[in-house]
Amino acid sequence: MMAKKRLAIFISGRGSNARALFAATHNDRYPAKVCLLVSDKRDASGLSLARDHHIPTHIISDDDALLACLHQHAIDIICLAGFMTILSRYFLHQWTKPIVNIHPSLLPHHKGLRVHERVLARGDSISGCTVHHVTSELDGGNIIEQKTVAVHKDDTPDSLAARVLEEEHHLYPQAVRQLIAGSHKT
Ligand code: GRF
Repeated sequence: MMAKKRLAIFISGRGSNARALFAATHNDRYPAKVCLLVSDKRDASGLSLARDHHIPTHIISDDDALLACLHQHAIDIICLAGFMTILSRYFLHQWTKPIVNIHPSLLPHHKGLRVHERVLARGDSISGCTVHHVTSELDGGNIIEQKTVAVHKDDTPDSLAARVLEEEHHLYPQAVRQLIAGSHKT
């Protein structure tokens, strides 16, 4: 088997998608392992995952320190998972390896925040989630994988978010696997 790809996961909050990635990487046959957990918030509750899994953390202060840390840990792929800072053009220029993100809508629909409110307000019958490459265009990079989720008549933003999140936890590890296999859609 080829050497496992080294992932850095970037979070800002509870990190349930990060947890799903950690869980997937515990399978010996999964082609990646999580080597670094990064946060823009020192008090992000998801940082406890790093303690549980005995991996280092990095709290973002500036781009150069972040880049140095990523290189120090020989990171191959950055996975944004509920990470609320927009990466700078400088960072995106300096970091030449893949960065992927998970977004709780069927992109290109509903980029940005408050997705589920907007899905319900528009009366969409289908929503879902997307794993995509990160570029300087917000939620605009090439799509790697998507999963649809039915919208129910009695959905609230919270009930829809919960159903979509459940699918996110399956989709993210699967999309990273596909990215590594080179079989992603472009
Ligand atoms: C997820 O819905 C993700 O799609 C969005 O932010 C939420 C993060 O949740 N970008 P978690 O921190 O992974 O639990």
